[in-house]
Amino acid sequence: MNRKYRKTIIAGNFKMNKLPSEIRAFAEELKTLVPRARWCETVICAPFVDLPLGMKYLKEARISVGAQNMSEHPKGAYTGEVSGEMLRDLKVKYVIIGHSERRQYFGETDLTVNEKVKAALELGLQPIVCVGESARQRELGLTEALINYQVRAALAGVTEEQIRKVVIAYEPIWAIGTGNTATAEQANEVNRTIRSIIRGLYGARTARATTILYGGSMNEKNAYELLAQPDIDGGLIGGASLVPEKFAAIINAANQE
Ligand code: 13P
Repeated sequence: MNRKYRKTIIAGNFKMNKLPSEIRAFAEELKTLVPRARWCETVICAPFVDLPLGMKYLKEARISVGAQNMSEHPKGAYTGEVSGEMLRDLKVKYVIIGHSERRQYFGETDLTVNEKVKAALELGLQPIVCVGESARQRELGLTEALINYQVRAALAGVTEEQIRKVVIAYEPIWAIGTGNTATAEQANEVNRTIRSIIRGLYGARTARATTILYGGSMNEKNAYELLAQPDIDGGLIGGASLVPEKFAAIINAANQE
């Protein structure tokens, strides 16, 4: 973390977990466990149907609300889709774009990711853009080239004004849901690479101000070490975000002096 230059964010990604009827209890429990956050912004990215209640109860617990996806289209005949404007109407602040599960199971490509990022920014939503390599890509030494391509593709056409609202999350696919966390050094190395790509595209000042998260089996045990790295500005947390005690411990790790 580097709190002097950029915001620390601890974001939970509920994925397809938590019913609307479970949101209030979660928010209330978390509120009792976390003192007023001094350094970090806490976010929960909830399923679409949880968002209306999330806007009430999570906000009361001082937690910002995000979605996990949105359509690249503004409106119209796209059965089953949810538009950015619908999220904005609820006053949702963040939206995860290009999570590896969406790329893997729902056919999202770097080009649709780019369209979604631009659509979100035009509506004033803050995208949390996910990038990351598979185990095989890492074995073959392709991590840096892949990250370089994914970041550049996601941000193609994003202006210098807009980039300030973008959060990037490095999520190695091999670390997601496996218990197999990247080491703090591995994670920091890729985050540093991402920052240097941003520097090349937007300049040093913007790169220094960009929040770059790590995600992939981050938990209450490894959070402190990961967050101590200079280029890891927070976490995108799946499994551990579902359990208030675990998520609170990660937030508290980010709040340490
Ligand atoms: P886990 O923390 O369950 O590994 O999930 C990480 C993730 O995909 C967050 O978006």
